Amino acid sequence: MPATIIDGKAFAARVRTQVAGHVTRLKQDHGITPGLAVVLVGEDPASQVYVRSKGKQTVEVGMKSVEHKLDAQTSEADLLAVIDRLNKDPEIHGILVQLPLPGHLDEDLVINSIAPEKDVDGFHISNVGLLGTGQKSMVPCTPLGCLMMLRDHHGSLSGMEAVVIGRSNIVGKPMAQLLLGDSCTVTIAHSRTKDLPEVVRRADIVVAAVGRPEMVPGDWIKPGATVIDVGINRLDAPEKGEGKTLLVGDVDYESCAAVAGAITPVPGGVGPMTIACLLANTVTACCRANS
Ligand code: GUN
Repeated sequence: MPATIIDGKAFAARVRTQVAGHVTRLKQDHGITPGLAVVLVGEDPASQVYVRSKGKQTVEVGMKSVEHKLDAQTSEADLLAVIDRLNKDPEIHGILVQLPLPGHLDEDLVINSIAPEKDVDGFHISNVGLLGTGQKSMVPCTPLGCLMMLRDHHGSLSGMEAVVIGRSNIVGKPMAQLLLGDSCTVTIAHSRTKDLPEVVRRADIVVAAVGRPEMVPGDWIKPGATVIDVGINRLDAPEKGEGKTLLVGDVDYESCAAVAGAITPVPGGVGPMTIACLLANTVTACCRANS
């Protein structure tokens, strides 16, 4: 039987509709407009695309969007001053500093200067600790989106074997915490894992978040497993024309889809869910600030 394709694009559209409904009620019933501030330092082209998309979708669901575009040479003190102003601004409920930052800036210091209750990325050390101990926190957007799709597809995840490939702070580690919170048996695999194919073959749920194009082939996948592909890798595709590129995930889609029970495509899988969850986190932050 062919794998079910988990349509992240359609799912994200439903999440945005729900968020827009919450925003309308917050405005009508409480006179409050949720506000999201995005801070971009430098001119990284991929980051510019993401930031533009975040701003556009924030406005589309009826929220206030503020963008701070800072020069690549911005000093740490100046960046911290911007964050401090946003922390104190009552019209701003969510703050996101786009990563990566230029090399002269201390990413941990910058992230930890965001007020934890406005940290809609869930990267602040307080939120990391709260998530790790199963307490109410801001949850990182990409893993949250993956979890929502898994719950929607399976209902309960209790007792399932989950293998997360990749141990980043942004995806791998929080993903593992969320799956553990849903009573999965969780393995975090990474570049030093011995016999990675055997480890992955145990999994009912595979989350690939390594940033290596098409690294996971179909013969690593247990028949019927659910495959969540977090990778967004841009490859040159001269066969499509000069300068053309192709987006691929961390799994080899064709061979994995032939074995899996369900799979997220790239594009149109995890990607759209990330921004939808950012908008949902901003509404959550706004509701908590006003409760
Ligand atoms: N850069 C790549 N992904 C992310 C993300 O989820 N949040 C932030 N702030 N920067 C990113």
